Amino acid sequence: MARGQRQEPGAEDVAGFSLAAVPGVDVTHANPARMYDYALNGDHNFQIDREVADQVFAVLPSGPAVARANRAFLRRAVEFCVDEGIDQFLDLGSGIPTRGNTHEIAQSRNPAARVVYVDDEPVAAAHTRHLLRGDPLAAMVRADVRDPAAVLGAAPVRDLLDLSRPVAVLAVAVLHYVSAADDPARILTAYRERCAAGSHLVVSHTTEDHLPEASRALREVLARSGIEVTHRNRDEVRALFDGWRLVEPGVVWTPQWRAPGPRPGDPAPETSETWCGVARLLG
Ligand SMILES: C[S@@+](CC[C@H](N)C(=O)[O-])C[C@H]1O[C@@H](n2cnc3c(N)ncnc32)[C@H](O)[C@@H]1O
Repeated sequence: MARGQRQEPGAEDVAGFSLAAVPGVDVTHANPARMYDYALNGDHNFQIDREVADQVFAVLPSGPAVARANRAFLRRAVEFCVDEGIDQFLDLGSGIPTRGNTHEIAQSRNPAARVVYVDDEPVAAAHTRHLLRGDPLAAMVRADVRDPAAVLGAAPVRDLLDLSRPVAVLAVAVLHYVSAADDPARILTAYRERCAAGSHLVVSHTTEDHLPEASRALREVLARSGIEVTHRNRDEVRALFDGWRLVEPGVVWTPQWRAPGPRPGDPAPETSETWCGVARLLG
């Protein structure tokens, strides 16, 4: 079925998970988690999400490819962290589960890997909890990532993660929802101060560096739906890693981060519209 022509999933049951059963879902306003799910061809979105997402794709037709390149970066970054010996993950703004979730990637390389997901969106929280039934090594916290004390004090974080040992903190495609007024540097510092040496920070962040006009138009479309987005340029994204040591290749476009390729026919890396990087906390 083409985009925008789906059945409303209210009564639909996706792999045993019913959107209709999720309390607190607002189906009258578009929501970033559900729009991202739509961009990734997921089923956990409503008509209003699809309408606004289609307006976004009208000004930025590469939107779904941007989301896929971001997910591919997430996969490579998690694999990198596991290969570096990291066996616990705090995934901030984790989204609605889709193929290749952090615990699936990490546990496929290290079955003992522990993952705590954090998101403030009810569908993301409910579906993640549903998916994690029976996995004692992964959990979901519904919280605002801008409140590190609440996140780090949540029972699943305290129970599952040992912050006296290295952890990977993921902030993948979420910090553009954190405005300058909310001070992402302050927030990341609060997480960093609780991390042990050897911990890793994984960030991806959308930008207007490549397509300023289309990106501005995208922000305006989202703002009309009450969704505020703050794009950051490469230097601003680099600054998010202050206090950490970036690993090679530093802050690059998502398709450029430790990817095999490029392969013939791949889109130019800047069409990902997303900067990313991984950094290590030195002792
Ligand atoms: C674009 S999705 C990214 C999902 C996943 N990290 C990925 O990269 O595939 C952004 C997610 O961040 C969540 N989010 C945005 N602001 C948030 C906040 N202040 N606290 C918690 N989650 C937030 C949204 O609900 C959404 O699920």
